[in-house]
Amino acid sequence: MLADLMGMKWSLAIMPYGEEWRKVRRGFHQYFNSNVASSYIPVHEAQSRDFLWRLHQTPDDFLAHIRHAFAASIMKVTYGIEVKDSSNEYVHIAEEVITGFNEAAQPGHFLVDNIEWLKYIPAWIPGAGFQRKAKYYKHYGLQMLNKPFDAVQKALAIGSAVPSIATEMIEQMNASDNREERERLARRATSIAYVGGADTTVSAVTSFFLAMVMYPEVQRKAQAELDAVVGPNRLPTFEDRPSLPYIEAIMKESLRWQLVTPMSVPHCTIEDDEYNGYFIPKGSVVMAAAWSILHDPVEFPDPEAFQPERFLKDGKLNPDVRDPTVACFGFGRRVCAGRYFALNQLYSTVACVLHSFSITPALDEDGNPIPVEPQMSNGIVSYPAPFKCMIKPRSASAEALIINESHHQN
Ligand code: HEM
Repeated sequence: MLADLMGMKWSLAIMPYGEEWRKVRRGFHQYFNSNVASSYIPVHEAQSRDFLWRLHQTPDDFLAHIRHAFAASIMKVTYGIEVKDSSNEYVHIAEEVITGFNEAAQPGHFLVDNIEWLKYIPAWIPGAGFQRKAKYYKHYGLQMLNKPFDAVQKALAIGSAVPSIATEMIEQMNASDNREERERLARRATSIAYVGGADTTVSAVTSFFLAMVMYPEVQRKAQAELDAVVGPNRLPTFEDRPSLPYIEAIMKESLRWQLVTPMSVPHCTIEDDEYNGYFIPKGSVVMAAAWSILHDPVEFPDPEAFQPERFLKDGKLNPDVRDPTVACFGFGRRVCAGRYFALNQLYSTVACVLHSFSITPALDEDGNPIPVEPQMSNGIVSYPAPFKCMIKPRSASAEALIINESHHQN
């Protein structure tokens, strides 16, 4: 309900299953399916090198750098917009939308979710704070929908646009008989990429850093694999990916160990249903217990431990072990539409970071390591509470690579 008041129905995850959702999702899928996702590899590679450079400059700001890395990749791919730092106007708008979205997506978080007529009470009445919130976020929701898209449209008109998903969509819509609808769908499909991917990808990468602080032996094994396959004279690329099963296993374990959406994303049944003898009336909120699926001790012995080895057999990925992607990206026709992009971003980040840095606990004033543990936030998207760690180049040659390969323009 709050999402309705915020005017965020353009956002795919809040949009109810129906004709409009199908069209927007189709448009999104056209640019984020498994085949097309590989065409963004140069962007992932450039961004992960930039990420290394930022980590090297100000390692204590690693959480901000993780956020920046995602923002920069997705804005580049979607709108051709270069994001240099957090003062970027479009990033600010998108981050406000995400905050509103996270509040709105929790069923029952606001009374108006359960008592529908409350939506008619004016904002000045005590207790109607949700109305003011809705108005505030609606403003940003509309800006997210239109501002970057308008900028690309203008740039295209004067011939200065950088090719992107938005430029392609605009060209297609200009050539279409059905221009009005194409434009509405294009604005919706492009604007959801940042909102769908930011918190989720940031959470997964942050959990990976946390695991590296807590499990130094995992880091050592990964670095031994990287040394053997990639060597000291270059950074890992996507061509190395099939030869780096331990890195792949770390990605899988990061997604399993601390789920980004432990209860998945709530959905509402559109008709009466029955499951294992339970009657589920139309209009029920249904949540999938993704956490239990990926912490089932039969499938994953000692499920709270971070053990990439559980995915490997004889040095290869073991296809008999349940793949976390069966649950961590949601289910069925609502399954995460950006999962291929997310996995590519995660691979590039994990491989490049482990090749270049050692990640160890931060030290207190007496020089003792400060222990960390997973303290995950509540909410639809769950992420580790902020923590400190030490991030240092793991050798002189690694440091030289970070500097030489980052191609940093600043
Ligand atoms: C590790 C990173 C990510 C995780 C764990 C994740 C997880 C999820 C989950 C659980 C859902 C809900 C599925 C359901 O309703 O059953 C979802 C939906 C969605 N995700 Fe992701 N996501 C990630 C990254 C991304 C990225 C990078 C993008 C964009 C490029 C993206 C775009 C979307 C969109 C558009 C939806 C809505 C799909 C729909 O309602 O039809 N996600 N994601």
